[in-house]
Amino acid sequence: MSKHILITGGAGFIGSHLARHFAEQAEVTVLDDLRSGHAGNLEGVRCRFLPGSILDAAALKQAIAGAEEIYHLAAMISVPESVAKPAECAELNTEGTRRVLEAALTAGARKVVLASSAAIYGDNPTVPKVESMLPEPKSPYAETKLAGEKLLEQYRVTHGLGTTSLRFFNVFGPRQDPRSAYAAAVPIFIAKALCDDPISIHGDGGQTRDFVHVTDIVAALAYAGGSKDMSATYNVGYGRSQSILALAQEIIQLTGSKSKIEHLPPRAGDIRHSVASTERLLSAGWKPQSSVSVGLAETIAAFRRLKA
Ligand SMILES: NC(=O)c1ccc[n+]([C@@H]2O[C@H](COP(=O)([O-])OP(=O)(O)OC[C@H]3O[C@@H](n4cnc5c(N)ncnc54)[C@H](O)[C@@H]3O)[C@@H](O)[C@H]2O)c1
Repeated sequence: MSKHILITGGAGFIGSHLARHFAEQAEVTVLDDLRSGHAGNLEGVRCRFLPGSILDAAALKQAIAGAEEIYHLAAMISVPESVAKPAECAELNTEGTRRVLEAALTAGARKVVLASSAAIYGDNPTVPKVESMLPEPKSPYAETKLAGEKLLEQYRVTHGLGTTSLRFFNVFGPRQDPRSAYAAAVPIFIAKALCDDPISIHGDGGQTRDFVHVTDIVAALAYAGGSKDMSATYNVGYGRSQSILALAQEIIQLTGSKSKIEHLPPRAGDIRHSVASTERLLSAGWKPQSSVSVGLAETIAAFRRLKA
């Protein structure tokens, strides 16, 4: 009999890629209240979609029953939104994670994997970011992701529940929403480039990020979910830094766009440099299968299909 997995937030960008990955080899349940996700992301995916919130005890109980592995991705995902609504962020991200862990324990699940974030490192200028660095969360979003990691550790130590936290760096790929108020750089730049519209960059564009193709985020999630040994916190990135300006130029070149780059005033609180140390994840036996250039080509092709 194939294993049963639950993906919270499975109708979102990353969650829907994970659901697709598991659909042919496992019984997949998705619990998602469509706060920022879209049911259309799961079109053609063999899964049981339960529209509902992780904060709804009955919905969570129904979704988690029989699940061996739980991939907990449901969250308030935006830093600016978390600053505007800190209490709602804490309820959804921290309390929501506690409820998922409690329900997992009650249901006898084997493993919970949390989608955590590089935001936890804050604006400490040291690069690369190593998991053992002192966390310096600078937003309610980062604070709640750190609290989630601590909760996973607590349930592992106190109750023997299998847990792994993965700190994602800057994830990109098809189905990432360029229209959301809090959209990320890659989907915005591609959407603008395909229309030959100007691409806006805050500041000089010299700020660097570790962009990771969603294929490798999915692979890391599945690897952690299936592992008996991975119980700590792991960065997931390529360990390669790319400036925002170079990213915009690469997208313009790959799309053959006539877009011009325009510079806006720097954004307050923007982190200058962020790149992952990937040593811990690599020594756990995981290897990336994709790359930024493969990911960009795939994402541009997907955006072109949507536009056609
Ligand atoms: N995209 C990135 O670069 C990135 C980086 C670091 C961490 N993460 C984390 O990865 C996870 C997935 O992010 P994403 O980029 O796919 O965002 P997303 O917004 O596409 O996915 C989040 C999903 O969670 C769902 N959700 C929100 N509240 C819910 C609730 N109460 N109950 C059930 N479902 C709920 C949303 O509807 C959405 O489908 C998040 O936890 C995010 O914090 C993402």
